[in-house]
Amino acid sequence: MKLYDKLDEIRKEAEEHIRLVKNLHELNETKAKYLGKKGSFSEIMKLMRDLPKEEKPKFGQMTNEAKQAILSYIESQRIEIEEEIVNQQLMNETVDVTMPGKSFVVGNAHLLTQVQEEIEDLFIGMGYELMEGPEIEIDEYNFEKLNLPKDHPARDMQDTFYITEETLLRTHTSPVQVRTMLANVDKGPIKIICYGKTYRRDDDDATHSHQFMQVEVLVVDEGASMADLKGTLLVLAKKLFGEKRQIRLRPSYFPFTEPSVEVDISCHNCNGKGCNICKGTGWIEILGAGMVNNNVLEACGYDTTKYQGFALGMGVERIAMLKYGINDIRAFYTNDTRFNKQFK
Ligand code: DAH
Repeated sequence: MKLYDKLDEIRKEAEEHIRLVKNLHELNETKAKYLGKKGSFSEIMKLMRDLPKEEKPKFGQMTNEAKQAILSYIESQRIEIEEEIVNQQLMNETVDVTMPGKSFVVGNAHLLTQVQEEIEDLFIGMGYELMEGPEIEIDEYNFEKLNLPKDHPARDMQDTFYITEETLLRTHTSPVQVRTMLANVDKGPIKIICYGKTYRRDDDDATHSHQFMQVEVLVVDEGASMADLKGTLLVLAKKLFGEKRQIRLRPSYFPFTEPSVEVDISCHNCNGKGCNICKGTGWIEILGAGMVNNNVLEACGYDTTKYQGFALGMGVERIAMLKYGINDIRAFYTNDTRFNKQFK
């Protein structure tokens, strides 16, 4: 009888221990204390040998039942403790969405990029393809194929940074025209816009920079005409400087175009009345353009009895300066964020 009482006592004691357990470590210790090799249940099994033979199976069965009950109690406690751990973790990791956030400094595209993209968007919208070319260019593409043979006096118009006798920093984006025409193997129509950095040996001042940006447009097609060029220029002028703008073409000279024109817009500041921005004339020069010189088309493999072309090229800084009233070109390059922030 005493052994039955002892079993009962151990079971109650174990249950009480398990109930009070606070963490997994304590739970494991409790499990070892009662169910381990040297635990209370092993002890009591040893005492079984003192029981009469016929009592043994019954006591054995009771002991096993008690062990099972203790084991399942331990496991249910384990699940509870583990859940509690997860809950605690979730609590600790809760994000307080009402807390004020960290503020980030959000930049904006450089003004030159903005103006460049505005021009690009206009032409891409009219079906032009965007092209690029290298800043280190060969003399042949920068000059020779553009109807500027060596020793041509017009080379002086663009004072050049030479790298070797045959390589240079491109002085304009016009060599992209050459590259595009040469790459076009079936010598069919072309409609491209390109942009990029260009370089000239100028002394930097308020209106000159040894590195600047150009955007250039080229169309080659059967029957491409001066009227097409004029229409294109008007659309461009209106897009950049407002719907009221008019354009005026003045005869000019570029070796790669014939005829060549200098394009003026009616002053966007005074609407043509005359002010300090247009120097009282009512007109502002914005870019150069013309019909592609046959020598250029032929140098790039085009049949000039069939194809004509027109082209235009402009300095992005000049456009941006006029548009936003900036009076020193160096403002684009000094990387003072206060300058750029004004054009968000
Ligand atoms: N390449 C000329 C320059 O940098 C600008 C220019 C003029 C480009 C007329 C053209 C053009 O494509 O047709 O001064």
